[in-house]
Amino acid sequence: MFQEKGDICPIGIFDSGIGGLSVLQEINQLLPHESLIYVGDSAHAPYGDRSADYVRKRSRQIADFLIDQGVKALVIACNTATAEAASELRKTLDIPVIGMEPAIKPAAELSKSGVIGVLATQRTINSERLLGLTERYAKNKKVLAQACPGLVEQVENGDLAGKRTLTLLRRYIEPLLAQNADALILGCTHYPFLMPAIRQIAGHQIRILETGRPVARQLYRVLQQNALLNLNYQDNCRKTTDTDTDNEEPVISFYNSSNDRRHHQAMRTLWKNPQQQIKHFKP
Ligand code: DGL
Repeated sequence: MFQEKGDICPIGIFDSGIGGLSVLQEINQLLPHESLIYVGDSAHAPYGDRSADYVRKRSRQIADFLIDQGVKALVIACNTATAEAASELRKTLDIPVIGMEPAIKPAAELSKSGVIGVLATQRTINSERLLGLTERYAKNKKVLAQACPGLVEQVENGDLAGKRTLTLLRRYIEPLLAQNADALILGCTHYPFLMPAIRQIAGHQIRILETGRPVARQLYRVLQQNALLNLNYQDNCRKTTDTDTDNEEPVISFYNSSNDRRHHQAMRTLWKNPQQQIKHFKP
């Protein structure tokens, strides 16, 4: 069983970079009373271009760091790291581990044309996890898996709708539309930040699915089942910044392995807090 960590302990969340902030936003909205620690591994992104071993090693190092911070649950806010490292982390950690799951099941349920597009990193596209989900939930659908090299870097650099970003998105999305896809799965946590640009290209008829909210709900269920919810604060509780260390109110802390100002700037912009303190994550 899981160790008793006490319900005021933080929840650890990590991604290859800043894309996992799209998941952090959903978690913070659903669980405003929880303290959260976010680690972005921007110095080593994109994971999609790395070997499976490398992704597993980085995931392990970040998980160990978060465990040292006393987290009571771990969210892998990265599809690529989930595909490569989730099962090993689940086997070896004694806290709940929640991973990402591309929205194949809901897409298969709502698609009328029977054609579903999946945008993800090459590593996720090649993963057994995606293959398994497709076999299980979308056997009688046409699933068009589109790897999207370059998109993670655009988000990491804070370019959400510039010329190159739009060119890449057109290259990846237009062939899916031409094949009559009526559901588009965002299988990478960086991509929800490109939603306005994706809409501009894909139009308003197509359904676009991402998994930040379902993951936040799953986290809620798991915390509840394991009696790990922080019940100490009620509705009027406000989350503080991590500079206020003397009180016990919920806190959100941010770490990044990169010292590049562009990454920190993009992180603050996506989190919508220009003053947000970001600490350096060294391992
Ligand atoms: N946000 C990560 C994901 O969901 C991006 C992976 C990468 O860095 O290539 O897969």
